[in-house]
Amino acid sequence: MRQTSQISKLTSLRAGFAVLSIFALIGVSGAAFAADAAPMAAAPEAKAEVPGKPKVDPAAGEALYSNGDATRGVTACITCHGPKGQSAIGTWPKLSAQHAAYLTKQLKNFKEGTRANPIMMGMAATLTQEDMQNISAFLSKQPISQGVAQDKETIALGQSIYRGGIAAKGVPACAACHSPTGAGIPAQYPLLGGQWAEYSNAQLLAFREGVRTNSSQMTTIASKLSDKEMKAVADYIAGLH
Ligand code: HEC
Ligand code: HEC
Repeated sequence: MRQTSQISKLTSLRAGFAVLSIFALIGVSGAAFAADAAPMAAAPEAKAEVPGKPKVDPAAGEALYSNGDATRGVTACITCHGPKGQSAIGTWPKLSAQHAAYLTKQLKNFKEGTRANPIMMGMAATLTQEDMQNISAFLSKQPISQGVAQDKETIALGQSIYRGGIAAKGVPACAACHSPTGAGIPAQYPLLGGQWAEYSNAQLLAFREGVRTNSSQMTTIASKLSDKEMKAVADYIAGLH
């Protein structure tokens, strides 16, 4: 059943590009699944290898993340995103423990421009698909960085939106896709828990204002949220774990 529907989906996607990116996604989610299934094991990811595809290499990803590569114009990611992907400032997102397939998708989206951000478009432009997969594999294995909610007055509102949505406005519960603990669900639904409130709030705004156009689900949801609701739920998410 599942296979049949996947095949019919495939045949309906005429563009070779789209088919290629599906293969890329399959490769990545395989690796992400292997990593998530055995979080304690430091085993290499080679098991999920797809014939003809290069192996995902987290060590190469770590080197590129930490040092960049001056010969190719790659800036060291650590400068902004911090050691282990645990950034120190709310405008730079934490990347540690994020699902590898989600990270790779974002880097691809920056490169294509469906996620418009001047800084990261420049960074992603210098990366190959292999670099993106390697860095993502490294980051997904780093320990999660927890945070705290700052605004006592909006916690109850933030929590009720996160857990139950806003029925009157047709806003679904965030927990339905991002999980009750904010851990997300690999490979599609990102980890949110512990993220800087400033960054989460900025993303909700970017979805609503059409600056970030890489998720129709999130565009629809964000377009129903007021500034106050966004701030409240973003602050709640910062303390969620
Ligand atoms: C000069 C600071 C800076 C550097 C250097 C930098 N980034 Fe970023 N990064 C940002 C900012 C700012 C954002 C948020 C962009 C937005 O609002 O869409 C971001 C967002 C991201 C995201 C999306 C996170 C999410 O949760 O969706 C990823 C992935 C990412 N960066 C990876 C990298 C990688 C890999 C490198 C190194 C090649 C890198 N960044 C270098 C500033 C930086
Ligand atoms: C139907 C599923 C679904 C629901 C419900 C949902 N989200 Fe999302 N959300 C997603 C997906 C999918 C993405 C990743 C989009 C992408 O690939 O770029 C995402 C991404 C995000 C991001 C960006 C994360 C990052 O690191 O940049 C934020 C913030 C977010 N969601 C907040 C929320 C909030 C707040 C709610 C509840 C009001 C919510 N989401 C409800 C599916 C959902």
